Amino acid sequence: MSRTRQLIELELARGAHNYLPIELVLQRAKGSFLWDVEGRRYIDMMGAYSTASLGHSHPAILRALIKQARTLDVTSRAFYNDQLPPWLEQLSGLTGMDKALPMNSGAEAVETALKLARKWGERVKGIPSNQCEIIGCEGNFHGRTLALISLSTEPQYRENFGPLLPGFKTVPFGDARALKKAITPRTAAFIVEPIQGEAGIRLPPEGYLAQAQALCRQHNVLFIVDEVQCGLARTGRLFCFEHDGLRPDLIILGKALGGGVYPVSAVVGNAAVLGVFRPGDHGSTFGGNAIAAAVSRKALQLLSDPELIERTDRLGQWALHTLKDALDGNPIVRDIRGKGLLIGVEVAPEIGARRLVEELKQRGVLTKDSHEVVIRLAPPLTIKKKHLRRALEAVVEVVKSHA
Ligand SMILES: Cc1ncc(COP(=O)(O)O)c(C=O)c1O
Repeated sequence: MSRTRQLIELELARGAHNYLPIELVLQRAKGSFLWDVEGRRYIDMMGAYSTASLGHSHPAILRALIKQARTLDVTSRAFYNDQLPPWLEQLSGLTGMDKALPMNSGAEAVETALKLARKWGERVKGIPSNQCEIIGCEGNFHGRTLALISLSTEPQYRENFGPLLPGFKTVPFGDARALKKAITPRTAAFIVEPIQGEAGIRLPPEGYLAQAQALCRQHNVLFIVDEVQCGLARTGRLFCFEHDGLRPDLIILGKALGGGVYPVSAVVGNAAVLGVFRPGDHGSTFGGNAIAAAVSRKALQLLSDPELIERTDRLGQWALHTLKDALDGNPIVRDIRGKGLLIGVEVAPEIGARRLVEELKQRGVLTKDSHEVVIRLAPPLTIKKKHLRRALEAVVEVVKSHA
């Protein structure tokens, strides 16, 4: 049995089957490349769902990680540490907002934002106790906790996990009129991904997000953006909401915030909202530990570099045009869309994206299907243009071989 097969069989035997990975076993990563246990090299067009935005094992990130792990590691927030305050100040400087709250995973940060919204709803907006409503969008993906699956519209995420939490409503993504109709005096917040990543890199219609923000302002509803996947330079702006010139009440960050090596997430907002939490209301043993803060400080410094952001914007536009030109009129392609280096190629359902990503693997390019019919292209933002070109050529070849 090959080493690959052995390891897969062991994982299948001893692990819960909550994922359906592509059949290869990774052993090493550097920059935009991944190597499997058989020594084969692949171009990473997945970027760990936007986590590896700085490329794998970025030397400055590794230095920050190792130095901090040797100096002060995890001490809990029973005490202050010397890394968290400068990280909070940095986030405040980058967002222009007063405060941030550190967590670990994206889902935890979204949970935090929803708890903030409920408490703000009761204490500040004056919604009667236990009656807050939060509105989300159809097709959302905010994570897998009980609250977040209660907000989800994906049947598989919800089935057999009931009873689900009350207090959530969903409206079609991109439909401002539906949002307007859904808002009631008990609505505390509206939460939206500026680009729906897991739903298949779905972009809302032009102007939708600004309309949604205006409705929220008008009805004293918190406007929350989940930038866990699309934030931090991924779309050619530091934050995706900048494309629309927005001022959200809460920004949720994760994934790339940990430099690709450590789980770090955050909720960022103004004192009027984050100030509702009192000691004991919320917390996490690992959230805001010195290693997380030190690594994330370096990640934020690198990700907020205007040169990286501008290059991502240019490279993304070039990639989108390259794909559109090469696949123009192709009968199996339904749509090619994206912003920056978050791009989706939607194919006909009878072909399906899973088969295509398996074939890309054979050509040395790794990515994953998103929502069965979309090939997700989200490489490290640091990818060299020649490697991106090679990966796009492989995508075009694979798609054309089915037309
Ligand atoms: C927009 C968005 N929010 C939240 C999450 C959840 O993040 P995590 O898997 O770190 O809990 C994800 C993960 O894909 C995401 O794409």
